[in-house]
Amino acid sequence: MNIPTKKARKILVTQALPYANAPLHLGHILEAVQTDIWTRFQNLNGNECLFFCADDTHGTPVMLKAKEMSISPEELIKKVYEDHKSTYSLYGINFTNFYTTHSDENKKYSEKIYLEAKKNNLISKKIVEQLYDEKEGMFLSDRFVKGTCPKCGEPDQYGDNCSKCGASYDVLEIKDPISTLSNSSPIRKKSEHIFFDLPQKIEILRKFLEESNLQMPIKNKLSEWLSDDLKQWDISRDAPYFGFKIPEEDNKYFYVWVDAPIGYIASMDNWFKDKDLDTEVIWSDDSDHEIYHFIGKDIAYFHGLFWPALLSSANFKLPNGIFVHGFLTINGEKMSKSKGTGILAKNFAETCDPETLRYYFAAKLNDKVEDIDLNFEDFIQRINSDLVGKYLNIASRSASFLKKNDNKLSENINKDLIKILVDEKQNIINLYEERKYSKLVRLIMDLADQVNKYINDETPWKKETNEAVDICSTAINAFKIITIYLSPVIPNLTNNAFKFLNLKKDISFNDVDHLLSGQINDYKALLNRLEPLIISEEDDMENQNLINIKQFSEVDLRVAKIIKAQDVKEADKLLQLTLDVGELGTRNVFAGIKGSYNPSDLENRMVVLVNNLAPREMKFGLSEGMVLASSNDDGVYLISPDEGAKPGMKVT
Ligand code: MSP
Ligand code: ZN
Repeated sequence: MNIPTKKARKILVTQALPYANAPLHLGHILEAVQTDIWTRFQNLNGNECLFFCADDTHGTPVMLKAKEMSISPEELIKKVYEDHKSTYSLYGINFTNFYTTHSDENKKYSEKIYLEAKKNNLISKKIVEQLYDEKEGMFLSDRFVKGTCPKCGEPDQYGDNCSKCGASYDVLEIKDPISTLSNSSPIRKKSEHIFFDLPQKIEILRKFLEESNLQMPIKNKLSEWLSDDLKQWDISRDAPYFGFKIPEEDNKYFYVWVDAPIGYIASMDNWFKDKDLDTEVIWSDDSDHEIYHFIGKDIAYFHGLFWPALLSSANFKLPNGIFVHGFLTINGEKMSKSKGTGILAKNFAETCDPETLRYYFAAKLNDKVEDIDLNFEDFIQRINSDLVGKYLNIASRSASFLKKNDNKLSENINKDLIKILVDEKQNIINLYEERKYSKLVRLIMDLADQVNKYINDETPWKKETNEAVDICSTAINAFKIITIYLSPVIPNLTNNAFKFLNLKKDISFNDVDHLLSGQINDYKALLNRLEPLIISEEDDMENQNLINIKQFSEVDLRVAKIIKAQDVKEADKLLQLTLDVGELGTRNVFAGIKGSYNPSDLENRMVVLVNNLAPREMKFGLSEGMVLASSNDDGVYLISPDEGAKPGMKVT
């Protein structure tokens, strides 16, 4: 009889290409972990899944960052490339190829796709008016313009899309524009631009939304955008610009969002070069490969509309699916993408084992577009309780009894318990496939609970060695199965667990069904309990309670002279002070010193003023700063400079 073999799927996945103007933050790692888990799972499940990425190197931010650092853009992207690559590897992100968009392959495919689109009458030219920063001598790319969203009125939005309502708009529509480069109001200036005819692609895009694997809210949002009036897409930029020149044009550059997604193809092409794989075939309608993009919700418009439109204009295959995740917040707070604030991925990896973050992200991720919060307390609790307390606990407590048997496993094991774990295999496979990682992690921890309960119930510590070895061999077999289930999530940790189990590296989901036999190794702790976290932020602060000299110098302390002090009748503790701050003028301050001082005694006294405290509107008037004082239960003591200090002098 012929046993039908399940045909392996051929899958190509990508994650969004990180911009090459800043180090990676934990939001990037969230995306990489989500994608990496899926890739590893596919391979473990007998499919061929390759994972491609690259640095997104073109555009104005890279150009300006290089200028700021007084190096060339080429030098900058080289530095960042090394940095990104090494950071991803800290987190075990297993790219098939991590490439760059500043490459020959990308130039070739960008030109090719553009020229095909041009041949297919999708390209036109138009004179456009744009915002131009006269101080900087350049047209302003959308992200260097801030203003008020024309759709919902939210202030302080970037030039091309609104973070509040998600609308995408033309930069000229934004209200009260400001150039973030020079803080000046830009002028309008004309220049010829090249456009891609997006509206011609509307039917293809409709079909794409219908047929591809997209999450419901994304599909809805994209359909909404499709039904709104689709505009011609401006794909050119004027010099100075770091990017590819548009062929058959004079001094025009591809807008970075043209060659960025084409960078997916280029990264593949670069890797396929010396292999038996053909980029053109793989990206054709006859492709036997599935293609999926993992991205964050902020770039769904580009991937769901522009990208398939571009691909189809050159008769390339469209992606089979786009998987969109929400944004990472840290302890409930937003991270800022543009400023690169938040915790750098490198720094975090120095504080705790990156595997623990992979686990935590998996425990929070699902197939929804929801934001995800990394809460430090919850994180520590989760790792200690799940990984140390449940999963590894099985191995550590079993190992001590097996050691008495020379680490030799018994084959007389409890089949019923093992069956419970094996029976969940298909469920686990489905949850991975559907990216329901949080559910998956819960299910696996549930299994770990059952194994720990089995050990508790069987009390090997009360049994003869033989029986104890049977019990612990059962537990170790269960541990092996759980290890396989967890391996896409925490590949390093599980690799070490496989070594402990004396298993070779190439484990697959098939190995779930085979019992372990023979000898294992001594157990050494694979992960220690986590202690409360102290993470350094962007600068190298060692401790969050310490401030650095820069932060201290941001407090503007000044010598001030009290020229008038009055009682505030309605307040128990307040005196109203009028302060002379020398050439800075006078300030009105309400100080909580009533009861400790007679107003009349204070006049002409010198004090220290916090001059740049945000003014506070109080019932009695505006308070424009704070005077320094020390206090205890006895009263309040104003701090005064030594004799000779003059009003307005800086205190440092
Ligand atoms: N260069 C573009 C993508 C081009 S893809 C052809 C870009 N780069 S990015 O560095 O800003 O973002 C890269 C990915 O990280 C995007 O998918 C983005 O959504 C994601 N994230 C950026 N900040 C994030 C969080 N705070 N949380 C989760 N993902 C976030 O966009
Ligand atoms: Zn808006």
